[in-house]
Amino acid sequence: MAARMSPDTPVFLRACRREPVPYTPVWIMRQAGRYLPEYRELRARVDFVTLTRSAELAAEVTLQPVRRFPLDAAILFSDIMTPLQGMGIGLEFEPGPIVREPIRSRAQIEALPALVPERDVPFVLEAVRLTRAGAPAGVPLIGFAGAPFTLLCYLVCGKPSKEFSAARAFLYAEPEAAEQLIDRLADAMSAYLRAQAAAGAQALMLFESWAGLLGPPEYRRFALRGARRTLAALRTLGVPLIYYANQASALMEVVAELDVDVVGVDWRSPLGSVRRTLGPQKAVQGNLDPAALFAAPQELERQVDGVLAEAGHEPGHIFNLGHGIWPETDPGAVARLIDHVHERSRR
Ligand code: CP3
Repeated sequence: MAARMSPDTPVFLRACRREPVPYTPVWIMRQAGRYLPEYRELRARVDFVTLTRSAELAAEVTLQPVRRFPLDAAILFSDIMTPLQGMGIGLEFEPGPIVREPIRSRAQIEALPALVPERDVPFVLEAVRLTRAGAPAGVPLIGFAGAPFTLLCYLVCGKPSKEFSAARAFLYAEPEAAEQLIDRLADAMSAYLRAQAAAGAQALMLFESWAGLLGPPEYRRFALRGARRTLAALRTLGVPLIYYANQASALMEVVAELDVDVVGVDWRSPLGSVRRTLGPQKAVQGNLDPAALFAAPQELERQVDGVLAEAGHEPGHIFNLGHGIWPETDPGAVARLIDHVHERSRR
């Protein structure tokens, strides 16, 4: 059992460790992005890939939402595909990632180089350092990576998709090759997250955005395998580990086997039952429907109250949306959401 953190430790980090906190911390998935006028203003002049590859600009965009709102954490501005670009995979963003040569063969998997973060994505690590230097006190920085199965979805299909049918067919047609790809990606993301922590990231998050495409056996064989392999070597770093599993209602019993501090939950699963399934050793993060930000102010407050009530009074809840914020969202609604979470949860 880890020693208790000092009262000076940011509220977000204490909640990750399931320690009592004076109020529920809140941050928002995709909080740096197109719903913010200051992001759109910058994007009108600079394309997305340049933003992610310039340490100064990536740090600036990371800090935009933290300057505007009293958020309890910052998340590095980058993309789950950025390290793959660093491994030499040709891709464009339109705005979702398009892989020039989708991976379908053993030969392609075996040709994938290892990721050496300091050499291949130095700008990401420098963005971490610059963000830490510029972040307000008490606002920790979350580093992140895509989980291996979610990365496999993009690499095999070559583009965003609802069903990711080519990726799922690949799991059944070539299961050993799929495992090999998962393992390669896990080793790369493990090195990537370790380097982010060394550069100053205070928590590490793995995005399993497409968990919900799989039933429990395939989830366990491919996705859980990859997440485990990625995170195993990071346990000793002493930073909280967060695993976001989208559309994973039917998978929570398997997710519970993963040794992480926090599980990110989408809005389809009530937090109360998720907490019962995960047990007392894990905190939860989530899970307001991003669409709820379009409700009238009073209804938005009622929705926030509903999430807080589901999370209950036990320590270990970080408020967030159930998935990324929509570009059409009014920043004023975000401000009201954050204030209401803080006010209503104050103990
Ligand atoms: O604020 C933050 O959360 C940090 C930035 C961040 C981005 N992508 C920036 C981005 C993070 C954490 C991601 C992760 C990411 N990228 C995920 C996992 C989280 C999730 O939403 O499930 C996934 C699946 C991707 C892949 C991806 N990148 C898609 C599907 C898209 C297009 C859809 C979209 O939201 O625009 C991107 C592009 C992307 N990544 C943009 C941003 C701000 C838009 C690019 C632009 O400005 O034109």
